[in-house]
Amino acid sequence: MMKIRTQRLASLLLGAVYLSPLAATGAAAQDQSATAAQRAETTLKQMTEAEKTVLTVGILAMPFGEDSAPLPEEAVLGAGYIPGIARLDVPALTETDASLGISWIGGLRGDGATALPAGLAMASTWNRTLIERGGQMIGAEARAKGFNVLLAGGVNLLRDPRNGRNFEYLGEDPLLAGTLVGHSIRGVQSNDIIATIKHLALNGQETGRKYVDSIISEDAAYESDLLAFKIGIEIGNPGAVMCAYNRVNGEPACGSAWLMNDVLKQDWGYKGFVMSDWGAVPGLDAALAGLDQQSGSQLDTRVFFGDMLARAAHDDPAYARRLDDMNRRILWAMYYNNLDTNPVVPGVPIDFEVHADIAQDVAEQGIVLLRNRDGALPLAARAQSIAVIGGYADSGVLSGAGSSQVQGKGGPAISVPLSNVGPTAAFITESYHASSPLAALRAQAPDADITYRNGRYISEAVAQAKKAEVAIVFATQWASEGYDQPDLTLPNGQDALIAAVADAQPNTIVVLETGGPVLMPWLDKTAAVIEAWYPGARGGEAIASVIFGKVNPSGRLPITFPAAETQWPRSRVDGADTVEPEFFGNPPEGAAPLRADYDIEGSDVGYRWFARQGQRPLFAFGHGLSYTDFESSELVTDGHSAKVTVRNTGDRDGATVVQLYLTSRNGEPLTRLAGFERVELAAGETRTVTITIDSRILAERNGDHWQMPAGRYRFDVGSDAQTMTVSQSVTLPSRTWPSIAAR
Ligand code: BGC
Repeated sequence: MMKIRTQRLASLLLGAVYLSPLAATGAAAQDQSATAAQRAETTLKQMTEAEKTVLTVGILAMPFGEDSAPLPEEAVLGAGYIPGIARLDVPALTETDASLGISWIGGLRGDGATALPAGLAMASTWNRTLIERGGQMIGAEARAKGFNVLLAGGVNLLRDPRNGRNFEYLGEDPLLAGTLVGHSIRGVQSNDIIATIKHLALNGQETGRKYVDSIISEDAAYESDLLAFKIGIEIGNPGAVMCAYNRVNGEPACGSAWLMNDVLKQDWGYKGFVMSDWGAVPGLDAALAGLDQQSGSQLDTRVFFGDMLARAAHDDPAYARRLDDMNRRILWAMYYNNLDTNPVVPGVPIDFEVHADIAQDVAEQGIVLLRNRDGALPLAARAQSIAVIGGYADSGVLSGAGSSQVQGKGGPAISVPLSNVGPTAAFITESYHASSPLAALRAQAPDADITYRNGRYISEAVAQAKKAEVAIVFATQWASEGYDQPDLTLPNGQDALIAAVADAQPNTIVVLETGGPVLMPWLDKTAAVIEAWYPGARGGEAIASVIFGKVNPSGRLPITFPAAETQWPRSRVDGADTVEPEFFGNPPEGAAPLRADYDIEGSDVGYRWFARQGQRPLFAFGHGLSYTDFESSELVTDGHSAKVTVRNTGDRDGATVVQLYLTSRNGEPLTRLAGFERVELAAGETRTVTITIDSRILAERNGDHWQMPAGRYRFDVGSDAQTMTVSQSVTLPSRTWPSIAAR
């Protein structure tokens, strides 16, 4: 059983949180036809002073500390619990992680859940509908297990390729990531539960995550990371926003009045509530900065939003006003999502087969074929000999670790502990979902002779590869919340293994299961490379289907793969050489300030930075091959939308993603994804696709306005961010519109 030790007595704290404030007087019946805002107001009016701090503070809903108090009966073992107010029919909040499915929490609940592939795999599908179905599916599982809050919606932009949580997020582009996170949230909330969007904001690395200071100008933030949040909120309307561990421009994100009061609530008019990340509350005055709820309060230095907040509200009208607003917002999120009228009932059976089909769809559409020399793939399913090597491919597919870790029923196929030391050792485990690529390959090619070697000894792998007609090397890069990758090599000598196998066997196919981009010093020697990310509950089947051509790959990279780490704005993670790797990222005594200077690239994240620097990456954002060919023509645009004709010129059915880029403005070169559409085309089929253009992508944020200068705007359809195929220029008038409400 996983236990997290603490320096404080959890029982004391739990006592404070559970104080029952319900000195009941009768509550007025609610008018169910009223709007969520009206209902929130009605309930708020009936709350006693003591009741007003019930919803503002929660606990980590799992054993915590040596002598932690038992959980209240209605709590469900998971990430968090906030008691309800029975007298007013206000339900308790039961919270679970995360964006990829219902988290495993070290097996404490003893059940399993369906693992979606990594966020980067989801983003590689560029498929709004499918990602919404994925959200519906994980939301349904949350509901079935008794949770009415899913801590999903991870949308921090990839600003560092080594960030240990990149696998949870949706890549480097604000339009793509924001759109997809919005659809995922919409899917989750279709189950009448609350979804979060997280972590507001600029939570770009895990090294020193609780004190690293993300430095960025307001304009650049509005054009990049904040834009992803804004688009996600517009589409998904999540009930809650989770603020981040890190600092932003000197302030802790969960104490940043700029982020929470000014940007989120005032400029964007957000109606829901802000919950803290677990252990991220800097103090009571975070309430005045816009924080509405203290989560997992055992992990903070004290309970700020309980009695302390009640006392402040009693003495200070500013706190009293805020306390009302905090309740209004939390109640709004509950009523908007029907938490009280359609309450969760734990124990509903889950159809894991149907849910795994969805996970498999995502995996199949999210796998990216990076390289395919002379049509090496798909392999014919005829009898042939194949040497499968490494990556625990006989047993399963890799998953990412930390609070988002999902495990299927029965737990992981393989779990390799990487440490048995320290309070978070249970998290530091490399686990594989029970979906064996080897078994799936054998099932799809029953007449082939398919052998397996684990790849621990290069000589053995090479000998096996030489004997076969084809070698398939599975290479893994484990990543976890709490830790960044020190560099972009494949760990445990896997680069040397691949190089040796590819030297011995020209038909070498590499399957990558990584949490982000890696370098590929062996690339030229290989016949084909597949990026499968962490492919989820049916990853093995999805990989085999792509290898044998049952599925025509259609994934497109949502991130840039650099040719060298020096191409990135930072060639090392900030603090990589000075900060001790530690899950919680707490500042050690006397720690030097840690800064991540995001003003270097500003809003030119990822491919935009590469374009600005004139650098050629290893694989560009948007890249992905297919077993058929596509041709785009006849781009027509008025700057608001674009029409493009796409044709499948090959002899196989397939899908492509039409990527529309803004490539210059008044002669100044730019590269910005302005719109996209995934389209499935039968062999020989032609279709005209309409793409909506988001004006914010064409504009600059300037002080309190978005500004589009008058002039020539050039658009290109690209097969990736560096390969343009058809273009059109259009003259647009100057446009300015406010980006903030009057402050
Ligand atoms: C993570 C959040 C997560 C929370 C609750 C934190 O460590 O940063 O993403 O939702 O824990 O488990």
